[in-house]
Amino acid sequence: MRHLIDPMDLTVQEIDELLELADDIIENKEKYSKVCDGKKLATLFFEPSTRTRLSFEAAMMELGGNVLGFSSSDSSSSAKGESVSDTVKVVSCYADIIAMRHPKEGAPFLASLKSDSPIINAGDGGHNHPTQTLTDLLTIHREKKRLGNITIGFCGDLKFGRTVHSLVKALSRYENVNYIMISPQELEIPQYLVEEVFEKENITYQQVRTIDEVIEQLDVLYMTRVQKERFFNEADYVRLKDTYILDMPKLKNAKEDLSILHPLPRVNEIAVEVDDDPRACYFRQALYGKYVRMALIMKMLGIEKPQ
Ligand code: CP
Repeated sequence: MRHLIDPMDLTVQEIDELLELADDIIENKEKYSKVCDGKKLATLFFEPSTRTRLSFEAAMMELGGNVLGFSSSDSSSSAKGESVSDTVKVVSCYADIIAMRHPKEGAPFLASLKSDSPIINAGDGGHNHPTQTLTDLLTIHREKKRLGNITIGFCGDLKFGRTVHSLVKALSRYENVNYIMISPQELEIPQYLVEEVFEKENITYQQVRTIDEVIEQLDVLYMTRVQKERFFNEADYVRLKDTYILDMPKLKNAKEDLSILHPLPRVNEIAVEVDDDPRACYFRQALYGKYVRMALIMKMLGIEKPQ
């Protein structure tokens, strides 16, 4: 039995296969509509979510399976003091596969040690979000037809943004990825990632403070919101929350084929006027999240691609 806790749990070949399977699901939805007949997915969300939980549930339903679960710790026995380990041990008696989000880093890993069903990390604190990474990779691949040979700007809260941490790791395995990290000093990418990814893999990266100084170089701009829920004090959040707002004037010097990604939810870091620009990919990206999760559920349940 395999779990997915960290994006690096998947090999490059497995990621390629998942993206290929997701592409085939997009093209041939009907063919997949019964492959998970009789299977159950549990979504255990101890932290709020719209896209991840609902796309996992829609994914399982579109594969012909069923879903159960909870969307907040308040509506589970965690509110009575039950441990994550006990919750997962029990839920794995009811479900064939479990997607779990938790505010504490490492909680899904702990759960995987006790579970009798595969665990998928659906986001743990400021740490990892591997299925968002699969979503991002599928989006970049569909938009650009490649994962290497790109210049990608990560903009916003690079300190607490788990989607950034996971995507930075995953892209480090592709050739010629040029990273430009755009953030205020207080929200720079954590030092452990600089050491584990950039220094270890001998990858050079730029650290800049404004979008304007790099926009014309970018093939992909990965915007993020400032993660209010991870700040220790409100004053710091208020001071930093509006550092970057992408609007049409900011895109004046951008490439015509720039791809603008955002894991969402958006607060105000992308002006609504940008949504109608063909370079805005973030709502397509949210849709692709469902298809890549369909592919992942199939892989983790050992379900073969139908003929
Ligand atoms: N991208 C993402 O994780 O969104 P949700 O928090 O809505 O699941």
